[in-house]
Amino acid sequence: MLELKKTSPIRQMPEWIKIFNSEEEARARIRTDHPQLLIIGEKRICLVLHDGVFSAVQDACSHNGQSLSKGKVNYLGEIVCPWHGYRFDLKSGRPCDSSSPDLVTYSIRSDNSGFLIAI
Ligand code: FES
Repeated sequence: MLELKKTSPIRQMPEWIKIFNSEEEARARIRTDHPQLLIIGEKRICLVLHDGVFSAVQDACSHNGQSLSKGKVNYLGEIVCPWHGYRFDLKSGRPCDSSSPDLVTYSIRSDNSGFLIAI
């Protein structure tokens, strides 16, 4: 029996959500280095294809909440916030030049069931 204290955080397994029917469809629909806003339930997610690799982070900038999907991706594979220019690593979510909190990152996978994101 597993007993959890009331103050213990309960870690839930991520739910995999299909966002495209296939990776080919995702590559056809998402333009390289053009951040795309995904809205899944109440979550707003910034999806990016850079250098052939997909990444997904929370859409709200951790500095002051601006939508990162309105930003740009630089040659280093960082998402650049359109408001104050803070940069974040797309793989780790870590800020590159500021003390803002890390961004939440989301795993992506492709299999026979489609192109999926873990939320
Ligand atoms: S809101 Fe993103 S850098 Fe300020």
